[in-house]
Amino acid sequence: MAESPRRSDESESVYRLAERADVLDDPAVRRVVTAAAASDDPWLQQQAKQIVVAKAVAQDADPFPDTDSATTRNDGQLEFGVTKTGGRVGLPEDALTKHMLVVGQSGAGKTTLFYNVMQQLSVPFWAFDLKRDYRHLITELGDLIVLPWQQLKFNPLVPPQGVDLRRWAQVFSEIFSHATALLSGSKNYLMKQLIELYRLYGLFDQREPPYPSVFELQQLMERDKINYMRKSSTYRDTVVNRVEAMTLTAGSIFDCSQGIPIEALLDRNVVFEFDGLARDTQNFVMEILFAFVFEYRLAQQHRDTGLHHVFFLDEGKRVFSVYKERQDAAGIPAIDELTAKMREFGEGLVVADQEASKLTDSIKANTDTKLLLATGDRQQFQEMTAAMQLSERQRAVAETLDVGQAVMQTGGHDPIPVVLDDVEVAKTVSDVDLWMRQKAWFHAPVPDREQPAAFIEAVGGHVESDDADEDEETTTEEQDGDESGLSAGAETMLKDVVENPFKPVTDRYELFDNDYKANQVKTELVEADLVRERTLKTGSVRQKLLELTEQGRDWLADQEIDVERKGRGSIIHRYWQHQVRDTFELAGWTAELEQLDADVYAKQGGDEIAVEIAMGDNDREVEHAKQRLEQGFDKVLVVCPNQEVINTLEEKMEEQGVAMERLRFRRFRDFNDTEIFS
Ligand SMILES: Nc1ncnc2c1ncn2[C@@H]1O[C@H](COP(=O)(O)OP(=O)(O)OP(=O)(O)O)[C@@H](O)[C@H]1O
Ligand SMILES: [Mg+2]
Repeated sequence: MAESPRRSDESESVYRLAERADVLDDPAVRRVVTAAAASDDPWLQQQAKQIVVAKAVAQDADPFPDTDSATTRNDGQLEFGVTKTGGRVGLPEDALTKHMLVVGQSGAGKTTLFYNVMQQLSVPFWAFDLKRDYRHLITELGDLIVLPWQQLKFNPLVPPQGVDLRRWAQVFSEIFSHATALLSGSKNYLMKQLIELYRLYGLFDQREPPYPSVFELQQLMERDKINYMRKSSTYRDTVVNRVEAMTLTAGSIFDCSQGIPIEALLDRNVVFEFDGLARDTQNFVMEILFAFVFEYRLAQQHRDTGLHHVFFLDEGKRVFSVYKERQDAAGIPAIDELTAKMREFGEGLVVADQEASKLTDSIKANTDTKLLLATGDRQQFQEMTAAMQLSERQRAVAETLDVGQAVMQTGGHDPIPVVLDDVEVAKTVSDVDLWMRQKAWFHAPVPDREQPAAFIEAVGGHVESDDADEDEETTTEEQDGDESGLSAGAETMLKDVVENPFKPVTDRYELFDNDYKANQVKTELVEADLVRERTLKTGSVRQKLLELTEQGRDWLADQEIDVERKGRGSIIHRYWQHQVRDTFELAGWTAELEQLDADVYAKQGGDEIAVEIAMGDNDREVEHAKQRLEQGFDKVLVVCPNQEVINTLEEKMEEQGVAMERLRFRRFRDFNDTEIFS
């Protein structure tokens, strides 16, 4: 509502009359009302009153006088529905470059409207789907690609074509920090580490694959953590925790060096499905994809008139509140600027939400077309009617909106009520259907991650990020437990984890009809924080093992399922304990886990050997070996991931004057077969 001028009693009553009659928006009325108030002249006030009354009569009972002209304005490219007099209502497609906002309560018809618009678009669109709504369009739009996150391979560390590495490091850190609520100290640390990682991968010299993944980033920071253990390292620890939480819950999305070609997907209709993914990860992936497109267009200078591509965000606040109040200091545009620039590049945004109040002001201000659907919530209703500048009488109408009805306002035009088209989309597309239709996408080979020598050296030659000898719990985000709600498949897999703890994940897949189903089940367990994935490297083969979490153990205990816990430390550590024990047994020794404090104790005749599994080269491993020697074993065998770890440990022990005669080093891979002793 416009601000009211200062008024005398008489002019006050003229003003009220105008307001009640809903004619204040009329420029002529505003002029006379303002003049009457300013002059305090009775004659002028009388004049004003007459004009207001005349206007009010002309306006009659219709609070939406613009309805008929609106239907003729529409050039019919996109049709949304009809007016109450039967005229078709819609928008020229290009109007979407100025963005569109749809607000309505659950069941009001937002998704239905999206279905309608998506099917009419002549340019490609991307939908970020949190509820598996849009996969069903695959039956209507044959060329649609639906990418459930379980099938998605995406490396957010690969900058868009043409985007500077440092800039991308900045964008990545900014968005990661926003999505996981990191403060600026941590953000800067993250950015520096990423730049360092790019450097170790030689990307500043030559921009070509392999690219590091988030796993390598994590590894680099973990290494850094070890190096600087004694310094104040809270923000460093926080970043590592956040990154680890994300890699643990994101399934295999980030487990790639290259991933799908995002740039090419801009020519296709794509539904990205994120339901079931942890919230932080959802936010991060949506935002980074959004930023990716923005940075890509900016770098390529894809300026042009007209619409090229549309984003559909059905829960808009998930992207447009995280961006909130982003400062320009980092050189990354605030959302106002971002939405404005998106327009220059022909990127349209169609945003829906139930809660207008949680959207940024800028998205409310920068969406040229707004549709208000049925909204019971007072606050949401007021937010939206204010943003649309609805008059009192228009609000009264908007309050009575039913399912599939809307008040639409576009450009500088007056709002109009619309009965939206009912678009029926059969919701029948299952995971299996998707899988069958899209085999090519699901099974496109993804090259393994690669680690160049400079990187391996920098992280001290560690095998994977699993090098901690003991479990570090990463409980940055508490799981909302509904413990009993596991699917039957998930229970089956969990029991298999208990019975065969060292079975590779892929072998567990044989318990299920197809890999897709199996992957879903595994994801369910990871999401529920009952198991976590660990990478086991045997020779050149990498396999994933599932490790029970404390929560997983608790869940099993509740079900009165006994979990034997033989061996200690991470599943990887225990795997090698078992492997060493079995090897000794095969060779005719008596061998046991966890005897006399040794990881493995082996005995034959009068010979007694202690085995320590050293997952890394830290001082604790040196201590363990020393203790075993002091206990008086004939031999102490230290089994390490690789030669680099052996070299470092050997060096440290020599420095500390450890008696090396009784000490032997072996590599993990020596225990893949049986021929080990010399
Ligand atoms: N234009 C319409 N005409 C008639 N019925 C409609 C219309 N739009 C939606 N409906 C009915 O309302 C139901 C819910 O609509 P829809 O799924 O689009 O709501 P929504 O706003 O997306 O809800 P949510 O916020 O829960 O996702 C539809 O299944 C349909 O039966
Ligand atoms: Mg919906």
